[in-house]
Order: sequence, then C-alpha cells, then structure tokens
Amino acid sequence: MDKIIRWGILGAGKIANKFASDLKHVTDAELVAIASRDQAKSKAFASQHGVRLIFNDYESLASSPEVDVIYVATPHGFHRDHVMVCLQHKKAVLCEKAFALNSKQLSEMIAFARKQNVFLMEAFWTKFIPQYVAVMKIIQSGEIGEIKMIQADFGFKAPEPKAQRLYDPALGGGSLLDIGIYPVFLALSVLGKPTEIQAMMTPYDTGVDEQCAMTLKFSNGALAVLSSTFAADTPVEAVISGTEGRIYMRDRFHNPVGSIELVKDKESGKIVDVRREGGFGYQFEARHVGDCLRIGLTESPVMRFQDSILLMETLDRIREACGIKYKVDVG
Ligand SMILES: NC(=O)c1ccc[n+]([C@@H]2O[C@H](COP(=O)([O-])OP(=O)(O)OC[C@H]3O[C@@H](n4cnc5c(N)ncnc54)[C@H](OP(=O)(O)O)[C@@H]3O)[C@@H](O)[C@H]2O)c1
Repeated sequence: MDKIIRWGILGAGKIANKFASDLKHVTDAELVAIASRDQAKSKAFASQHGVRLIFNDYESLASSPEVDVIYVATPHGFHRDHVMVCLQHKKAVLCEKAFALNSKQLSEMIAFARKQNVFLMEAFWTKFIPQYVAVMKIIQSGEIGEIKMIQADFGFKAPEPKAQRLYDPALGGGSLLDIGIYPVFLALSVLGKPTEIQAMMTPYDTGVDEQCAMTLKFSNGALAVLSSTFAADTPVEAVISGTEGRIYMRDRFHNPVGSIELVKDKESGKIVDVRREGGFGYQFEARHVGDCLRIGLTESPVMRFQDSILLMETLDRIREACGIKYKVDVG
C-alpha cells in the first residue's frame, strides 16, 4: 500500500465539510485533524467526519507532527496569512481559490514555499475533474479546429441573509474572485494569456462587485465573453467554439455533475462520455496532491505556479479595468 497521506483542514466552514466528505473517496488518505477558532464547530466537524485531532487555533494545526498536508479553507482575504503559517511550519498546503487577493500576495506565498522547499498548490478542483480533462483532450486533438470564441458564465442569486464572505471586502468578497474566477480560468486554459481586457462591474452597497462582465482578447484574435453575478441565477455554462465545431459544457461547466456535447460542423452533436463517481468532485485534486507528496514534489505538474500566477494576474487586470479594489492593493 502507498503511504497514507494525513490531512488536516484549516477552517471548518462550508467547503471544508464538502472536502472532508470527499476525502473518504481517496484511498491512501486520512483526515486526521481539524482546526477551527470555534470549539463547538470543531467538535461537531470532528464527530461528523471521524477526525481524531481537534485544534482551536490554526497555528497548532500547522505545527502538528501528525499532519502531512493542510487544506486551507478560509475566505480568500486570509489565504495569504494562513498559507504562510503552514509554510512557516514546513507543512504542505492545498489552498482554496482564489489563491490570494492579488498577485503581490501570491508571489510572496510562492517565494516562501520555494524557500521552505514545501509543496503548495491552489485548490483549483475544476482542472482535475473528468469533464475538464475530456474537453482539453478534444481541443488538443484539433477536432474542433482553432478556437475563436469562448462564452462562459457563473451566477447565482445569493440567498438572504447575505453571506458575509461574499460581500465583505475584508474577506475578499465580490463575484469575480469567488465565481468569475471559473470562466476566467477556462478561457486562459484554452487560449493562454490575454492581450487585451475590457470589463464592467456593478457594485454592491459594501463596494464589492455584485456582478462583473468581461471580454478578453487573445493573440490569435480569439475572444472570450465571460460573466459572474450574485444577483441572478444564470446557466453556469460554457461554449467553446472553433473553426470546425464547438463544445458545450452544460449544467455547471466547472463541476463534475456537468455534461459535455461535441458538435462538429455538418454533424449532429454527440454527448461525450466521462467517468462519473460519487462525491462532490474534490477527491480528484486531493488524489493528485497525495501523488505529488508521495514522490516528494514541491509543485504540482498539473496546477503549476505559472497557471496560478497567470490566473491571478488576469484577475488583477480585470479588477483594474472595472475598478474592483481591496485594501491590500494599496498597502
Ligand atoms: N472549490 C470550490 O468549489 C469552492 C466552493 C466554495 C468556496 N470555496 C472557497 O473556499 C473558501 C471558503 O469558503 P466557504 O464557503 O467554505 O466559507 P465559509 O463557509 O464562510 O467558511 C470559511 C471558514 O473560514 C474560517 N475563518 C477564519 N477567519 C475568518 C473570518 N475572519 N471570517 C470568516 N471566516 C473565517 C472560519 O472557520 P472557523 O470558524 O472554523 O475557524 C469559516 O468557517 C473561499 O476562499 C472560497 O472561495 C471554494
């Protein structure tokens, strides 16, 4: 049997619960620790997921010799600080998206991971799901020709009462970093670095972007038309159109529940078969992290630092284009 990777989770919120539940679908992984600032929450989490170590501050988790890797599941306004605490204790880290608030924070995190010689990866789960892998394979095969246009949206009507994490600028609130990041990631994955960016946003009362619409242009003339919103339910779909056909990613394009349809010019569309398994879909990235750690990697060969840097720099450029600012941008 391969070495069991011992996971700890930092922050016991919504995504932490989903990730914990998906770790049960990963062989050779064990969730051993939870850290929450709230004792009642950490106890409930531990009993729900069968976790044996409970910490009521994040640093105690980071310094535990019984943990190999920490999943950072706090709001993105704190990712930099919480990742640094883990790296300080030479603990491998899988950190939720958005990786940081801006490129300056991200470069500090990457530089420190390199200095400490410790594994660090952005938890961009979409990159590891069967749908995304299948779509990239079709594109790379040339089956739909040269990609010219991508349309993708991610929107939901935020329920009342409004979640603080989504609207508080101090927590990194705003639709772009929370969900707009998915359409942006898809466009960059297919078309690379944009040469031009235009964007508009609608602010919420707190100043964060409640909605964001963006157009990205690429060196071959291709365009991506992307959007995010907390104000309305949108289809959460993507269409990738090439000179010889197109791919529809439907019913949540970023997620393993979604379906893919391939339509080639002059042919009727066909649904592409993808592997399905139980869980929410976070097990795919968790397996990859385990594989990386077992062979001593400090950077993922799939979700590389350069992928996260391009994503963060593009988000910075979009924010600059439409006036989305965080306090840390000026500090
Ligand atoms: N990959 C995905 O599909 C996905 C989906 C949803 C969210 N996310 C990402 O995951 C991260 C967390 O999102 P979430 O929806 O799980 O948020 P959440 O339910 O609000 O949980 C965040 C947790 O962060 C901790 N925290 C530490 N300092 C905090 C502070 N000052 N204010 C609020 N919380 C604080 C809290 O844990 P304790 O109180 O236990 O210490 C809290 O439970 C975000 O970066 C988000 O973008 C990813």
